[in-house]
Amino acid sequence: MLKSDIKEILITEEQLKRRTEEIGAQITKDYEDKDVILVGVLKGAMPFLCDLMRQIHLPVSIDTICVSSYGAGTVSSGEVQIKKDIDSDIKGKHVIIVEDIIDTGITMAALKNIFCERGAESVEIAVCLDKKERRQKEVFTKYVGFEIPDEFIVGYGCDYAEKYRNLPYICTLYPSVFEHI
Ligand code: PRP
Ligand code: MN
Ligand code: MG
Repeated sequence: MLKSDIKEILITEEQLKRRTEEIGAQITKDYEDKDVILVGVLKGAMPFLCDLMRQIHLPVSIDTICVSSYGAGTVSSGEVQIKKDIDSDIKGKHVIIVEDIIDTGITMAALKNIFCERGAESVEIAVCLDKKERRQKEVFTKYVGFEIPDEFIVGYGCDYAEKYRNLPYICTLYPSVFEHI
């Protein structure tokens, strides 16, 4: 059973909903009369992207990108490989990258560069969770849902071995879970 794997709920469904409403309202204010495209980073960003887009009361467009880091865990890593690109031409557009979590910052720093190079008018980041103490690459995050400690969490898009993304809250798992998968 799914429920028996869950140790502690750190951020509830209600808290996620409220914070997403606040960020959506802020983006609505900040981007009035601008041509905005939200780019969700697959797969983790899916729940946050779906919830956030419906709290932005502007005619935004949506796209998705899927990337993977080269040589994860190595100091030299800073490159990301695009596994599935966006379809949209972002030249002259205001891009908001939507992410579930920022950890080392490598993914976000690389994507920000890529979109700037392609001629976006501006590139900002909206991220649900920020593990600040893990940062290797400094990257400015304009919209942050919650700062969280360096603990292994799942839910609301965040996975362990591709599972638990569908949980509507952020939680930790019992250590026994990591032995079984
Ligand atoms: C996770 C997470 C972010 C990224 C953050 O994605 O969803 O996209 O890692 O890490 P960083 O700040 O150290 O770059 P992952 O590569 O696990 O893919 P997923 O979204 O499909 O789970
Ligand atoms: Mn991801
Ligand atoms: Mg993952």
